[in-house]
Amino acid sequence: MKLELNVRVVPREEVGGAQRELLNAAFAALDHAYAPYSGFRVAAAVRLDSGEHFVGTNQENASYPVGICAERVALSTVQSVAPGAKVERMAIAYRPASGPASIPLAPCGMCRQAMVEQHARQKAAFEVVLAAEQGDVWVIADASSLLPLAFTPSDLR
Ligand code: THU
Repeated sequence: MKLELNVRVVPREEVGGAQRELLNAAFAALDHAYAPYSGFRVAAAVRLDSGEHFVGTNQENASYPVGICAERVALSTVQSVAPGAKVERMAIAYRPASGPASIPLAPCGMCRQAMVEQHARQKAAFEVVLAAEQGDVWVIADASSLLPLAFTPSDLR
């Protein structure tokens, strides 16, 4: 049972090369977000154990609830293109309508549930790296720790 959330707060200049590379991919993808309604752009970049990178961005809709978050776009893309793939790390970048921010974005509850499913599917934890365009970077070693007492596949048994 996971009840503890450990967030490592890393000064930007001390972020490791692998994390930095994935964050850069996420920031580059912000231009591909489709957020005409909120103006809030989010991008998630994922690294697989194969070394491949995939990105997802938020995709909004005139019918607001139809919109989907960047994290779930990224995870769905991974499983559609490389079914059974193992995610090693996910980096999440964002830019609010008001311009560059300095506090990392914590993923929404629905995306946390999707991360828990990914963990269950690949039977291994994966890291999450959160960053705004300025300020400290937050590193969470186990994505599923973001959703304590989660509903998981084993609850269906
Ligand atoms: N959004 C994400 O893409 N990921 C999150 O974790 C939080 C919110 C998107 C959904 C919507 O398009 C916009 O940000 C504002 O909520």
